[in-house]
Amino acid sequence: MSPTFSRRSALRLVGGAIAVAAAATSAGPAPLAHAESGSGAGPRVEGLIGRLTLDEKISLLHGATDPDSLGQAGYVPGVPRLGIPALRLADGPAGVRVTRHATALPAPVLLASAFDPALARRYGQVIGREGRALGQDVLLSPMVNLIRTPYAGRNFETFSEDPLLAGDLVAAEIRGIQGEGLIATVKHFALNNQEKDRQSVDVVVDEQTLHEVELRGFEAAVEAGTGAVMGAYNKVGGTYACENPMLLTDILRERWGFGGWVMTDWFAAHSTAAAIAAGLDMEMPDGTYFGAALKSAVRSGSVPEAYVDRAVRRVLAVMDRFGLLDGSVPARPARDAKAGAAVALEVAKAGATLLRNEHRALPLTGAAARSIAVVGPTGSLPFVSGGGSAHVVPDRADSPLDAIGSRAGRGAHVSYSLGEDLFGKPVPASALSPALSTEGQGIAAGQTWTYEGTLTVADADEWTLVIHYSGERPKVLLDGEDLFPVAPGYGEYFSGGLVSAAPDGLSVRRRTLDLAKGAHKVEITAKGGTGGQLFRLRRITGATRAQDVAEAVAAARAAHSVVLFAFEDATEGLDRTTIALPGHQERLIEAVSAANPRTTVVLNTSSSTSMPWLRRTAAVLQMYYPGQEGASATAAVLFGDCDPGGRLTQSFAVDDAHHPVAGDPRRYPGLDGTEEYSEGIHAGYRWYDAGGVRPLFPFGHGLSYTSFVYDGLRVRRDHHGLRASFTVRNTGRRAGIEVAQVYVGPSPDLGLDQAVRVLGGYERLALRAGERRRVTVRVASRTLSSWDARKHAWVLGTGRRTLWVGASSGDLRLSTAAEVRA
Ligand code: BGC
Repeated sequence: MSPTFSRRSALRLVGGAIAVAAAATSAGPAPLAHAESGSGAGPRVEGLIGRLTLDEKISLLHGATDPDSLGQAGYVPGVPRLGIPALRLADGPAGVRVTRHATALPAPVLLASAFDPALARRYGQVIGREGRALGQDVLLSPMVNLIRTPYAGRNFETFSEDPLLAGDLVAAEIRGIQGEGLIATVKHFALNNQEKDRQSVDVVVDEQTLHEVELRGFEAAVEAGTGAVMGAYNKVGGTYACENPMLLTDILRERWGFGGWVMTDWFAAHSTAAAIAAGLDMEMPDGTYFGAALKSAVRSGSVPEAYVDRAVRRVLAVMDRFGLLDGSVPARPARDAKAGAAVALEVAKAGATLLRNEHRALPLTGAAARSIAVVGPTGSLPFVSGGGSAHVVPDRADSPLDAIGSRAGRGAHVSYSLGEDLFGKPVPASALSPALSTEGQGIAAGQTWTYEGTLTVADADEWTLVIHYSGERPKVLLDGEDLFPVAPGYGEYFSGGLVSAAPDGLSVRRRTLDLAKGAHKVEITAKGGTGGQLFRLRRITGATRAQDVAEAVAAARAAHSVVLFAFEDATEGLDRTTIALPGHQERLIEAVSAANPRTTVVLNTSSSTSMPWLRRTAAVLQMYYPGQEGASATAAVLFGDCDPGGRLTQSFAVDDAHHPVAGDPRRYPGLDGTEEYSEGIHAGYRWYDAGGVRPLFPFGHGLSYTSFVYDGLRVRRDHHGLRASFTVRNTGRRAGIEVAQVYVGPSPDLGLDQAVRVLGGYERLALRAGERRRVTVRVASRTLSSWDARKHAWVLGTGRRTLWVGASSGDLRLSTAAEVRA
């Protein structure tokens, strides 16, 4: 018996009720024969369902402990007696996350900055092949949640604030992953656009916004044949995403015709009967609700066994598509680390986004390339990736300092200064009595070490106390206050990818306090645990900070040019509270660029950053988290071995008060557990355009080392869409990359809210000096359509519409009008 899905969801809304017409669509194109989409399970799957016991069926619907774990996130045991193999599920978006080495690719936001779906496909191919080589069957990636708030901790893991671009890239990446035989899992369905309160926040969104903004990427993933979908932690319209019939059944199954399976995010299940009825198929990583509880529910009749069969059918159907049930799956390949590294390098160069370049400060040539002061902690530490589940153990990673030094070559002088201390310096014997060893305190397994002493502060000052430790977190009391309490629950697992570990691998925690002059009581207890531990106490004070800045300033003065590395260390599980650079980096940039105006700031940040210091600098290069080859890519761009190929996939705000979610806690981060997407369809650059607010840098912005002119715009109708043709000419003296962008204005015929303009299409171009190219960009009818909540359908925006062509959403060079007809 096949259950019916005629239920209407009880979604709360900002304006009108959501109900989605139950029109199933085709499952979309098939990337490869074995990886095609489609909801129909074949006779093999039906035969297996007939032979599986209830216990066996249930074992396929939830995670369990892997007896042979490779450190991956999830495991589902198979049913060997029927030839059903186990599934191993690994993160993640920037490479395969197991405990072994893998290619640490640049963060997805850097990939997206290349505006190049073909590159996204190759990025997916690297992960697909490595996942299979590393014993995995399912990849927990890509993430396609839209960049809605600049504070969101996972903005580096996803693509863009623009739904068209995000959709193109997610589809290409999924085709790349699945073409290698690894099952992709698009995540997190849906509206997991922030980390703050992600486990509980209730998102209230109107139907038009839901479809036009957040869902387009997921729909593109389904069209590309994604095998699995991961439900989000948050609620949508009062119901958890993982038990939300509107999302999981009405939209995903009935409207989009998704034939794969839906798993929860980790520990995101909240019920048994409601969840399976709503369309959830698999609980991860354990069986709290879909294990024994599901069995009792079936036995007691509160869950029809047909629901269990339906979920099993969806899992097995995907396994069958990938050849996992009949042994037709290709043998696992060997890793190709060299090919992975080559793609990692190419992506980092292609996505490198040059935001500012005054007086051709970059590329570094002549004296500027021979006398360089490298400044900043991330100049000497490779900033490979963000934290959380997207963290990958890289094969290798150079520091930018080494890469710059070797590129500058013999005869060049490259100095290094820290500028901003992340890990602290030993507390001097004069301040701590009794003194602590500067090498650290070793504590043998099973032993407990205690310390009681006095910290004497000569003058009232801001102190950052830093602990480095290898095992269980030591307890450090200052005047009786526990400085580093262990937060309960899952949150503790997340800390930044870089700053939470010292260069030698010890865990690091910091606490900044204003300390009064005089004596302070210090008590420390550290346990050796089973493996013993090492403990170090470090400190950063106003005086050490001033010293670090003074050294950087002196080095900047002594050099011809400066490359200053600034960072922001993001992770899932946490949002940042400001878009300003953390710590004292702003002051460092001000001081260094005042000392040497030929200062280039390289940003290794997760997302947008405010730059009150911008005008003092010569150049700003956004590299995000550039992966294991990031140092070479950065050096290649700085020295002009390649053109900076990236463009912003999100608007950069001037400050914390001027961006789409500023100033209204109901909009972000939510009030009383509820968050309203009251900006409606005006996400990202649409919000800036609608309100006439100037961003610091607009969506699509990025400079080349050469210059381009646009002319000859013509627009023709193309079925229900449009075709814009224009010429782009490289007017400079070097080869370069341009990302030509087409934007489209509103339809006069729709009585619906529409954006001032939306991205209609784009083309990444590599042009030699003097080369001109005629470019044609298709604007699809979907992009010309709006979601009509009264009809619960897309409606084509007919009539005369303006088209612009330019180099960013704020740099529109050509425009014309064209008639759109149904
Ligand atoms: C994340 C998912 C990830 C999962 C498994 C969760 O915390 O939200 O994106 O796939 O963990 O590691």
